Amino acid sequence: MAFDLVVVNGIIVTASDVLPLGIEIGIKDGKISCLGSSLPRDANTQIIDAKGAYVTPGGVDSHVHFAQDNCPTGDDFTTGSRSAIAGGTTTVLAFASQEKSETSVIPVVEEYHTKATNQSYCDYGFHLILTNPTPEIMQKEMPLMIEQGITSVKLYMTYEPMKLGDSELLEVLMSARSLGFTTMVHAENSDIISLITDRLEAAGHTDPYFHAISRPQIAENEATYRIISLAELTDSPILIVHMSSEIAVKHVRKAQTRMLPIHAETCPQYLFLLSERLKGSHHDAFEGAKCVCSPPLRHDPKDLEAMWRGIANGTFTTFSSDHAPSSYDHPNGKKLGLKSGIMRYRDIPNGVPGVETRLPLLFSYAGSDKDSRLGLQRFVQLTSSDPAKLYGLDGTKGNIAPGYDADLVIWYPEEDLKDGVNIEQKMLHHGVDYTPYEGMKVKNWPRYTILRGKKVWDRDNGGILGGMSDGKFLKRGKGKIVVGKTGGEVNGMLAGERDYWV
Ligand SMILES: *[C@@H]1O[C@H](CO)[C@@H](O)[C@H](O)[C@H]1NC(C)=O
Ligand SMILES: *[C@@H]1O[C@H](CO)[C@@H](O)[C@H](O)[C@H]1NC(C)=O
Repeated sequence: MAFDLVVVNGIIVTASDVLPLGIEIGIKDGKISCLGSSLPRDANTQIIDAKGAYVTPGGVDSHVHFAQDNCPTGDDFTTGSRSAIAGGTTTVLAFASQEKSETSVIPVVEEYHTKATNQSYCDYGFHLILTNPTPEIMQKEMPLMIEQGITSVKLYMTYEPMKLGDSELLEVLMSARSLGFTTMVHAENSDIISLITDRLEAAGHTDPYFHAISRPQIAENEATYRIISLAELTDSPILIVHMSSEIAVKHVRKAQTRMLPIHAETCPQYLFLLSERLKGSHHDAFEGAKCVCSPPLRHDPKDLEAMWRGIANGTFTTFSSDHAPSSYDHPNGKKLGLKSGIMRYRDIPNGVPGVETRLPLLFSYAGSDKDSRLGLQRFVQLTSSDPAKLYGLDGTKGNIAPGYDADLVIWYPEEDLKDGVNIEQKMLHHGVDYTPYEGMKVKNWPRYTILRGKKVWDRDNGGILGGMSDGKFLKRGKGKIVVGKTGGEVNGMLAGERDYWV
């Protein structure tokens, strides 16, 4: 049997191994069918020569916001997924977002299917944002969602239009426990933020920098400890999204040490950017709005260091972009926070773009050079294999092994890209008008991106080669617990005490 595609002359990296140079990848019908040497080929077999470079699994970005009504100037599926493949990401998990007034999530999911079908360059799935988890939805609709491959939800502890109180959080966690979906949580204490925001506003402190002042680390720390406690009580696995504070991460680490199934995520902005970026420049006092995201960028390089430690030492399970784009120079984008010359940070849409730059930024620090911060296998775990496992794509995505989808990133051999790549807005493929990483240098960039055996990105010959109907909806299975396990006892409760009430 000849293959459709054989990738030769690469160094294959998986979550567990860096294979010797030259192991070939044989691809048939969009799947990896074997790894080996001198794989059979015929006149119809396409060959890609990796020229001695690393080959990693296609990126799985498990946290992106595309086509949401609350960021109308951001990316739709077309521009967002185009940006994904140009940065080596072949799978995105985006959100289908319920509004509080909606009492059924079925039309919500239909709407997002309509927004994505035949409009995506990469494979995609949906997490369901629950802002009004009625008993009807949890009992009748969630089982249906799971059947349809939507096996994760996201909950907010902050943001007025979205936040849930503790009793609602608990109900969803109890439901997760019985139905087996995965729960993601945005953990910040909403009342702390409101108190500070109102008082800052009264004192006239409303320019973008005060966004960081209004959401101190203690708001993240408290909410993180609280959601871990609720998850422990209900014996339900969670993932805390976009973590930025070391004390909050320590709560996670401590829970993990007790074998609780508490997962954590961080994002490029919390490894690379500081709150000073929220201050304007001399030519544009409002420019800091570009970096308004929540949790906010933190003040001290030590804060970045702490997140890097969690990346290296296994505390984080996923490294996602939280791509939450809004155009800067647009009256319905970031400029919503600038009216008649008055800056008001609370009106600035939150979020930064990053789906395209996520892999190159982290890959620059992966390896065994003296300035490396994580191993190559750890890079694969964080950016691809662990999110695939956690969100029910195990066996399909996140690995270079027989039976998996042939999703690959082929990087440049070092000698071909000696000067690295300077990130610039003009080279990116998203739909917004800036990148917070402008001018930052990365060592490497995906030379080719392969989606299910098809070359969809060739940086030197045509750029985007894929099309809008290449991306398929991923009907996901139930997620696996990556860290810890369920069934543990709660501190201070008797063995089996929970059985009285669950
Ligand atoms: C998507 O594209 C395929 C192939 O071009 C077509 O058969 C299908 O009807 C399209 N689906 C929708 C919902 O437009
Ligand atoms: C791992 O990293 C986290 C985050 O910086 C830190 O709090 C924790 O102490 C580290 N643990 C070990 C064992 O190094």
